[in-house]
Amino acid sequence: MSAELLRECYEIQGGNFDTAGEISGEIKTILRDLGIDAVSLRRVVVVAFEAEMNVVMYARRGTLTLILTDEEVNLEILDEGPGIPDLELAFQEGFTTASDEMREFGFGFGMGLPNMKKNSDELKIETEVGKGTSVFARIRLDAHE
Ligand SMILES: Nc1ncnc2c1ncn2[C@@H]1O[C@H](COP(=O)(O)OP(=O)(O)OP(=O)(O)O)[C@@H](O)[C@H]1O
Ligand SMILES: [Mg+2]
Repeated sequence: MSAELLRECYEIQGGNFDTAGEISGEIKTILRDLGIDAVSLRRVVVVAFEAEMNVVMYARRGTLTLILTDEEVNLEILDEGPGIPDLELAFQEGFTTASDEMREFGFGFGMGLPNMKKNSDELKIETEVGKGTSVFARIRLDAHE
């Protein structure tokens, strides 16, 4: 295990579209200022944004924790919410339970989870219906694409 260089924890408010995306925006600024390479930065921000939006769209509340080491970025997103009854289905491109209102906001393409998978080196989801969902993503800082 390489040493932890930075750990930041943020609260995410379910249903609050006014502040949605602010946390991933802040993570982008922090990591860019630290000089993380552009490819890794883009991957981290995609995963953080999609995970943040899923908490805003589907859960009551949640937390996003950013952990940086010299080798990788880890994102942990824990929420209290409905959980995901069928994970395999949820990961299919285009599958969504988003409301018409969310679609009017420009969300609900069913691309969040597939994009999180594509942009992380390891993605683990634990979910319990009626309780909530936990997302663990690892993005390596060397050699990809
Ligand atoms: N944290 C979560 N809690 C409960 N359900 C979730 C959560 N994240 C995803 N889901 C379920 O999985 C489905 C697919 O999620 P995904 O992020 O791939 O697409 P989306 O959120 O519907 O649309 P998009 O991300 O393109 O705006 C969601 O519609 C929802 O039913
Ligand atoms: Mg989504």
